[in-house]
Amino acid sequence: MRLPDGTNLTALSEYLLAGLDRDAREALHRQLYRALRAAILAGKLPAGSTLPASRGLAEELGLGRNTVLHAYEQLCAEGYCHGRGGAGTFVTAVLPEAVPERPPSPARQQGTPGLSSRARQLLPTLTRRAEPAGPAFMPGLPDLAAFPWTQWQRHLHQRQRASSPADFDYRTEGGHAELKTVLAEHLRLSRAVDCSAEQILITGGMQQTLDLVARAVADAGDVAWMEDPGYLGARTAWQAAGLRVTPLPLDEQGMNWMGADYPKPRLIYVTPSHQYPLGAVMSLARRQSLLAEAARHDAWILEDDYDGEFRHQGRPLAALQGLDRSGRVLYLGTFGKTMFPALRLGYLVAPIELVDPLRRLQARLYRESDYVVQAALADFIGEGHFGSHLRKMRTIYARRQAKLRDTLCEQLGGALPLLGGEAGMHVCARLPPGSDDLAISALLASAGITAQPLTPYCQGQPPFPGLVLGYAGVDDATLRLAAVKMAAVLRGML
Ligand SMILES: Cc1ncc(COP(=O)(O)O)c(C=O)c1O
Repeated sequence: MRLPDGTNLTALSEYLLAGLDRDAREALHRQLYRALRAAILAGKLPAGSTLPASRGLAEELGLGRNTVLHAYEQLCAEGYCHGRGGAGTFVTAVLPEAVPERPPSPARQQGTPGLSSRARQLLPTLTRRAEPAGPAFMPGLPDLAAFPWTQWQRHLHQRQRASSPADFDYRTEGGHAELKTVLAEHLRLSRAVDCSAEQILITGGMQQTLDLVARAVADAGDVAWMEDPGYLGARTAWQAAGLRVTPLPLDEQGMNWMGADYPKPRLIYVTPSHQYPLGAVMSLARRQSLLAEAARHDAWILEDDYDGEFRHQGRPLAALQGLDRSGRVLYLGTFGKTMFPALRLGYLVAPIELVDPLRRLQARLYRESDYVVQAALADFIGEGHFGSHLRKMRTIYARRQAKLRDTLCEQLGGALPLLGGEAGMHVCARLPPGSDDLAISALLASAGITAQPLTPYCQGQPPFPGLVLGYAGVDDATLRLAAVKMAAVLRGML
């Protein structure tokens, strides 16, 4: 064995031992590989030198011989070393990469991690999703315990068992044909969406849909009208696509563009069935004038119907898309609330002439989601489980909303008005003028209550301070306890 001058096996072993942690989760052969690679890159094992015999090194380090052999194999596979018959393992003369101590990039030296100006602009608005302080009142979270997992898994397993290798190829059809068929029927009946299966595109959830549509129908610098306060996921998608987001105020009928001169939009994003997060339901008159306004600007309307399936009061409201006669509404939906968020499936109903361009862009930009899962979902919907789950959840969510209202009223006597609630899974609590909703939200978090402040949902001046309260994802008893606790924290401030 020939180690470089001045390096003996014991000295090398000491160096390597410093890089091993027997309690760490990383496998020992990986740790040894990294320690040896560091020794090579640091010149402790220079080009041409021989690695110690595996048996000897294993004894020195108190490791199994296979662990050492594994590490050597990895170094050979990556080109740091090569074996020469029975003569041993040698450090390669030309190393596969430059020695790691590169000078830091200019951006690093200035303390910024080399991000694009777009990312630098977006990041301050993106809070890292901290663990919610407690299960109540996280908005947007469906009740996962009430989901019919057994039925879902049965369909999933059936489709998995019946699948063939071809089902796992790249797909470019814009979604499983059977899923598009049953979904089109469901949307026609349940949401009065005017569509055929050919107009549907199955996506990887709402975020992907928003990104796809922004790239497909608008150019960087185009104007996107957005409800303010509004859905942060949409605002982020428009900004990331380089659109100029114009915040529009809301009244009790929804987005209101009247009375001011806003820049001409290329796209208009709305949540007409249940405005997110204030909860207004867009009146029929406003829907019609929105369609006329979009026609005047030759703009696309993006209708996000994220929770329209859960209507609690009044007559079911038809989707805006169903009123459109000019083919300028794209209807967007998600299975994140009606099924579960991790499914990552959403859908888009587009005017027929947009379907093929959208489908091709989708296939190239993101690839398509798993068709076996989509087939299982088609069965789940087709056999009526989806419909019964929606009916069950509508009753449960309506009851929870009533419980939240009643408890807050009982505890605070109407001092905390709740807005919205005709549909959906959340309400917005209006705090007294001058309250600091960010500070109140932090105070509630320290008491184990998740209550999102309204301010970050606003691009412009918030209309009032508020808290967005999701009531869907917690059981009735937890919900009541949390409401009592929240009232105790808020009592002196209202
Ligand atoms: C307005 C709105 N759209 C869409 C979504 C989420 O859709 P997805 O789960 O598909 O990302 C949410 C989630 O809270 C939402 O509030």
